Amino acid sequence: GMKIVTIGGGSSYTPELIEGFIKRYSELPVSEIWLVDIETGSEKLEIVGQLAKRMIEKAGLPINVFLTTDRRLALKDADFVTTQMRIGSIDARILDEKIPLKYDVIGQETNGPGGLFKGLRTIPVILDICRDMEELCPDAWLINFTNPAGMVTEAVLRYSKITKVVGLCNVPIGMKMHIAKTLNVESGRIHIDFAGLNHMVFGLRVYLDGKDKTADVIDKLTAGEKQMSMQNIASLEWEPQFLKALQAIPCPYHRYYYKTREMLQQEKEEAAVKGCRGEVVKQLELDLFELYKDPDLSIKPPQLEKRGGAFYSDAACSLIHSIYNNKGDIQTVNVQNKGAITGLPYESAVEVDCIITQDGPKPLAMGELPVAVNGLVQQIKSFERMAAEAAVTGSYETALLAMTINPLVPSDRVAKQILDEMLEAHKEHLPQF
Ligand code: G6P
Ligand code: MN
Repeated sequence: GMKIVTIGGGSSYTPELIEGFIKRYSELPVSEIWLVDIETGSEKLEIVGQLAKRMIEKAGLPINVFLTTDRRLALKDADFVTTQMRIGSIDARILDEKIPLKYDVIGQETNGPGGLFKGLRTIPVILDICRDMEELCPDAWLINFTNPAGMVTEAVLRYSKITKVVGLCNVPIGMKMHIAKTLNVESGRIHIDFAGLNHMVFGLRVYLDGKDKTADVIDKLTAGEKQMSMQNIASLEWEPQFLKALQAIPCPYHRYYYKTREMLQQEKEEAAVKGCRGEVVKQLELDLFELYKDPDLSIKPPQLEKRGGAFYSDAACSLIHSIYNNKGDIQTVNVQNKGAITGLPYESAVEVDCIITQDGPKPLAMGELPVAVNGLVQQIKSFERMAAEAAVTGSYETALLAMTINPLVPSDRVAKQILDEMLEAHKEHLPQF
């Protein structure tokens, strides 16, 4: 059988993953799922782990669930390692979101200063996991969900010996479902050429039964059809003429870059009324864990849909399924570019359509990005590279560069002020600085 290890297993998202494995069991014979968390997360691990066991028992499947705080014990001979940990937990996210706001800068956990600091906290830990994997499960695949997923994948590709790494996000699947709905067809009939970076991916072309329908989709999205958003992103509308001119479909996160002022305003208003997203999620999590404790609950509760991670288990389980069964289907994942997107570094992580084989994802050639978006994508890739380097070296100057070149940060002085305040606020989780 197959051994799956999930690091950050005490996450409230775990039932989503378990449900995915249950649904696919006939083609994906998982025999062991090891949920790993750290000591301070062991209470949550216990609660969600017991729910996982009840879900599997209810489904009548011979999958053994192990709960442990011993990561190295868990990793031994793993086939797939999925990572979904949050260094510093939700309180660190709240700081990532609130501190930039004081300086009139977007406070978001994967974009701008928040994304930088989430990366600085996470990258040393993921590289540590990579070293353990080299030793304990050198043939395993590392499937990373921890944000910022693109930056983390970049760091693994550049600074570890692990090559079997894939970064995952639910955004491309979400966009595909949304576009299928817009066209009023089953999503299996749709293909989208996706290219870009994580949380910065574009749907370059949309096909229905192989025929290019990009212009039709854009017409609908600019003529009153609902535009895509997510639970965690304010659903401000795109300027119709901008979308028409672009002739590509931006992802929900692009609002932070193309509607910076409005999104900042929106964030401030929401923060004043109900708190930042991290604070909302903190309460949601408390509610979820109360539900999870119920010994009569043995399904994924619908309340989990209030989180931004819809389809998260579909992304993870479909990928594992296609690698394991050498399926050769197309999925959009974060992998080494290898020339798939012209103009981005060969070695860098990109989010792009790939053929999924037993030997991993093979990126499909997308050519050059449209000139209108190429500059922003390049800038964000430079930001991710500087951020990853700063995370590894602990260089203040490199971190300052990363912060300053981020398009959401207005000046070098503001960059330094935010950097200094965030370094202090997060120092417990930044031993490299
Ligand atoms: C989407 C993103 C994830 C992110 C999540 C946040 O799913 O793709 O990368 O973690 O939203 O959702 P939350 O409920 O935590 O705000
Ligand atoms: Mn994501």
